Amino acid sequence: MRDSIERVLITQQQIEHKIEELAADISRDYRGKNLVIVGVLKGAVVFLGDLVKKIDIPLTLDFIAVSSYGNTTETSGVVRILKDLDNSIEGMDVLIVEDIIDSGLTLNYLQENLRSRGASSIRICTLLDKPYRRKADVKVDYKGFEIEDEFVVGYGLDFAERFRNLPEICVLKPEEYNGR
Ligand code: IMP
Ligand code: MG
Repeated sequence: MRDSIERVLITQQQIEHKIEELAADISRDYRGKNLVIVGVLKGAVVFLGDLVKKIDIPLTLDFIAVSSYGNTTETSGVVRILKDLDNSIEGMDVLIVEDIIDSGLTLNYLQENLRSRGASSIRICTLLDKPYRRKADVKVDYKGFEIEDEFVVGYGLDFAERFRNLPEICVLKPEEYNGR
Protein backbone atom coordinates (compact mmCIF):
# COMPACT_ATOMS: atom_id res chain seq x y z
CA MET A 1 0.00 0.00 0.00
CA ARG A 2 2.87 2.38 0.88
CA ASP A 3 4.30 2.26 -2.63
CA SER A 4 1.05 3.81 -3.95
CA ILE A 5 1.69 6.99 -1.96
CA GLU A 6 3.32 10.05 -3.50
CA ARG A 7 3.53 12.02 -0.26
CA VAL A 8 2.01 12.50 3.18
CA LEU A 9 0.02 15.74 3.35
CA ILE A 10 -1.06 15.68 7.01
CA THR A 11 0.69 13.51 9.59
CA GLN A 12 -0.84 11.44 12.39
CA GLN A 13 0.56 13.88 14.92
CA GLN A 14 -0.99 16.89 13.18
CA ILE A 15 -4.35 15.12 13.04
CA GLU A 16 -4.17 14.13 16.69
CA HIS A 17 -3.33 17.66 17.76
CA LYS A 18 -6.17 19.16 15.69
CA ILE A 19 -8.67 16.67 17.11
CA GLU A 20 -7.78 17.73 20.64
CA GLU A 21 -8.62 21.33 19.72
CA LEU A 22 -11.86 20.46 17.95
CA ALA A 23 -13.01 18.20 20.80
CA ALA A 24 -12.31 20.91 23.36
CA ASP A 25 -14.37 23.43 21.34
CA ILE A 26 -17.24 20.96 20.90
CA SER A 27 -17.22 19.95 24.59
CA ARG A 28 -17.38 23.60 25.60
CA ASP A 29 -20.12 24.59 23.08
CA TYR A 30 -22.44 21.63 23.73
CA ARG A 31 -22.31 21.44 27.51
CA GLY A 32 -25.91 21.07 28.77
CA LYS A 33 -27.29 20.42 25.28
CA ASN A 34 -28.82 17.30 23.69
CA LEU A 35 -25.87 16.47 21.49
CA VAL A 36 -26.21 13.82 18.81
CA ILE A 37 -23.26 13.27 16.54
CA VAL A 38 -24.26 12.18 13.06
CA GLY A 39 -21.42 10.51 11.17
CA VAL A 40 -21.53 10.43 7.40
CA LEU A 41 -20.57 6.92 6.28
CA LYS A 42 -18.10 5.69 5.41
CA GLY A 43 -15.44 8.37 5.09
CA ALA A 44 -16.01 10.02 8.48
CA VAL A 45 -15.76 6.92 10.69
CA VAL A 46 -12.04 7.00 11.41
CA PHE A 47 -12.09 10.72 12.26
CA LEU A 48 -15.32 10.35 14.25
CA GLY A 49 -13.89 7.46 16.28
CA ASP A 50 -10.89 9.49 17.38
CA LEU A 51 -12.91 12.69 17.88
CA VAL A 52 -15.61 11.29 20.18
CA LYS A 53 -13.04 9.76 22.52
CA LYS A 54 -11.80 13.29 23.25
CA ILE A 55 -15.24 14.84 23.83
CA ASP A 56 -15.99 14.79 27.55
CA ILE A 57 -19.73 15.58 27.68
CA PRO A 58 -22.74 13.24 27.17
CA LEU A 59 -23.63 12.48 23.56
CA THR A 60 -25.27 9.89 21.36
CA LEU A 61 -24.13 8.61 17.96
CA ASP A 62 -26.04 7.98 14.78
CA PHE A 63 -24.98 7.37 11.19
CA ILE A 64 -26.22 8.20 7.73
CA ALA A 65 -24.92 7.00 4.38
CA VAL A 66 -25.40 9.06 1.26
CA SER A 67 -24.30 8.75 -2.30
CA SER A 68 -24.38 11.10 -5.22
CA TYR A 69 -25.39 9.67 -8.55
CA GLY A 70 -22.49 9.00 -10.85
CA ASN A 71 -19.14 7.43 -10.09
CA THR A 72 -16.59 10.08 -10.95
CA THR A 73 -14.53 12.11 -8.48
CA GLU A 74 -16.97 15.00 -9.09
CA THR A 75 -20.24 15.14 -7.17
CA SER A 76 -23.34 15.44 -9.34
CA GLY A 77 -25.38 17.33 -6.77
CA VAL A 78 -28.15 14.74 -6.70
CA VAL A 79 -27.86 13.07 -3.33
CA ARG A 80 -29.50 9.83 -2.29
CA ILE A 81 -29.81 8.40 1.23
CA LEU A 82 -28.46 4.84 1.27
CA LYS A 83 -28.83 4.32 5.02
CA ASP A 84 -30.93 6.62 7.16
CA LEU A 85 -30.52 7.58 10.82
CA ASP A 86 -31.76 5.00 13.33
CA ASN A 87 -33.39 7.52 15.66
CA SER A 88 -35.45 10.69 15.54
CA ILE A 89 -33.47 13.93 15.87
CA GLU A 90 -36.46 16.06 16.86
CA GLY A 91 -35.40 18.52 19.55
CA MET A 92 -31.78 17.36 19.36
CA ASP A 93 -28.62 19.41 18.80
CA VAL A 94 -27.14 17.73 15.76
CA LEU A 95 -23.47 17.85 14.89
CA ILE A 96 -22.81 16.38 11.45
CA VAL A 97 -19.30 14.91 11.21
CA GLU A 98 -17.87 14.60 7.70
CA ASP A 99 -14.47 13.68 6.29
CA ILE A 100 -14.18 16.36 3.61
CA ILE A 101 -16.20 19.12 1.96
CA ASP A 102 -15.53 19.72 -1.71
CA SER A 103 -18.42 21.12 -3.78
CA GLY A 104 -20.52 21.32 -0.62
CA LEU A 105 -23.48 19.72 -2.39
CA THR A 106 -23.58 16.65 -0.13
CA LEU A 107 -23.61 18.63 3.11
CA ASN A 108 -25.96 21.25 1.74
CA TYR A 109 -28.48 18.54 0.97
CA LEU A 110 -27.90 16.73 4.26
CA GLN A 111 -28.27 19.86 6.33
CA GLU A 112 -31.60 20.79 4.69
CA ASN A 113 -32.84 17.22 5.02
CA LEU A 114 -32.01 17.00 8.73
CA ARG A 115 -33.37 20.47 9.40
CA SER A 116 -36.78 19.40 8.09
CA ARG A 117 -36.91 16.72 10.82
CA GLY A 118 -37.19 19.24 13.64
CA ALA A 119 -33.69 19.33 15.08
CA SER A 120 -33.10 22.15 17.57
CA SER A 121 -29.80 23.02 15.95
CA ILE A 122 -27.56 21.68 13.21
CA ARG A 123 -23.85 22.32 12.93
CA ILE A 124 -21.10 20.88 10.77
CA CYS A 125 -17.69 19.50 11.71
CA THR A 126 -15.33 18.45 8.92
CA LEU A 127 -11.78 17.20 9.09
CA LEU A 128 -10.86 18.61 5.69
CA ASP A 129 -12.13 21.51 3.61
CA LYS A 130 -11.41 22.08 -0.08
CA PRO A 131 -12.96 25.52 -0.56
CA TYR A 132 -11.91 26.05 -4.17
CA ARG A 133 -14.64 24.08 -5.91
CA ARG A 134 -17.55 25.10 -3.69
CA LYS A 135 -20.88 25.09 -5.55
CA ALA A 136 -23.26 25.22 -2.61
CA ASP A 137 -23.05 27.51 0.37
CA VAL A 138 -22.13 25.59 3.51
CA LYS A 139 -21.27 27.12 6.85
CA VAL A 140 -18.59 25.02 8.50
CA ASP A 141 -18.65 25.38 12.28
CA TYR A 142 -15.69 23.14 13.18
CA LYS A 143 -12.93 22.67 10.64
CA GLY A 144 -9.74 20.61 10.83
CA PHE A 145 -7.60 21.58 7.85
CA GLU A 146 -8.06 23.57 4.67
CA ILE A 147 -6.32 21.88 1.74
CA GLU A 148 -5.56 22.65 -1.89
CA ASP A 149 -7.73 21.29 -4.68
CA GLU A 150 -6.16 17.85 -4.92
CA PHE A 151 -7.51 14.37 -4.29
CA VAL A 152 -6.48 12.87 -0.96
CA VAL A 153 -6.87 9.47 0.69
CA GLY A 154 -6.32 7.89 4.09
CA TYR A 155 -7.70 8.34 7.60
CA GLY A 156 -11.12 7.23 6.32
CA LEU A 157 -10.95 8.78 2.86
CA ASP A 158 -10.91 6.41 -0.09
CA PHE A 159 -10.11 6.12 -3.72
CA ALA A 160 -12.44 3.45 -5.16
CA GLU A 161 -12.98 2.18 -1.57
CA ARG A 162 -9.27 1.62 -0.93
CA PHE A 163 -6.76 3.40 1.34
CA ARG A 164 -9.25 4.21 4.13
CA ASN A 165 -6.94 2.45 6.61
CA LEU A 166 -3.90 4.67 6.04
CA PRO A 167 -3.26 6.46 9.36
CA GLU A 168 -2.47 9.82 7.75
CA ILE A 169 -3.81 12.00 4.90
CA CYS A 170 -1.92 11.23 1.69
CA VAL A 171 -1.71 12.05 -2.00
CA LEU A 172 -1.45 9.03 -4.27
CA LYS A 173 0.97 8.65 -7.15
CA PRO A 174 -0.63 9.85 -10.40
CA GLU A 175 -0.56 6.36 -11.90
CA GLU A 176 -2.91 5.16 -9.13
CA TYR A 177 -5.65 7.51 -10.34
CA ASN A 178 -5.23 6.74 -14.03
CA GLY A 179 -5.13 3.56 -15.99
CA ARG A 180 -6.01 1.06 -13.28
P1 IMP B 1 -19.08 17.30 -2.03
O1 IMP B 1 -20.56 17.03 -2.13
O2 IMP B 1 -18.48 17.68 -3.35
O3 IMP B 1 -18.74 18.29 -0.95
O4 IMP B 1 -18.43 15.92 -1.76
C1 IMP B 1 -17.97 15.49 -0.59
C2 IMP B 1 -17.67 14.01 -0.69
O5 IMP B 1 -16.87 13.71 -1.85
C3 IMP B 1 -16.87 13.58 0.49
O6 IMP B 1 -17.69 13.15 1.53
C4 IMP B 1 -16.00 12.49 -0.07
O7 IMP B 1 -16.69 11.26 0.02
C5 IMP B 1 -15.81 12.83 -1.51
N1 IMP B 1 -14.52 13.52 -1.72
C6 IMP B 1 -14.30 14.79 -2.10
N2 IMP B 1 -13.01 15.08 -2.21
C7 IMP B 1 -12.34 13.94 -1.88
C8 IMP B 1 -10.94 13.61 -1.78
O8 IMP B 1 -10.01 14.39 -2.02
N3 IMP B 1 -10.67 12.33 -1.40
C9 IMP B 1 -11.63 11.40 -1.11
N4 IMP B 1 -12.95 11.69 -1.18
C10 IMP B 1 -13.30 12.94 -1.57
MG1 MG C 1 -17.85 11.22 2.33
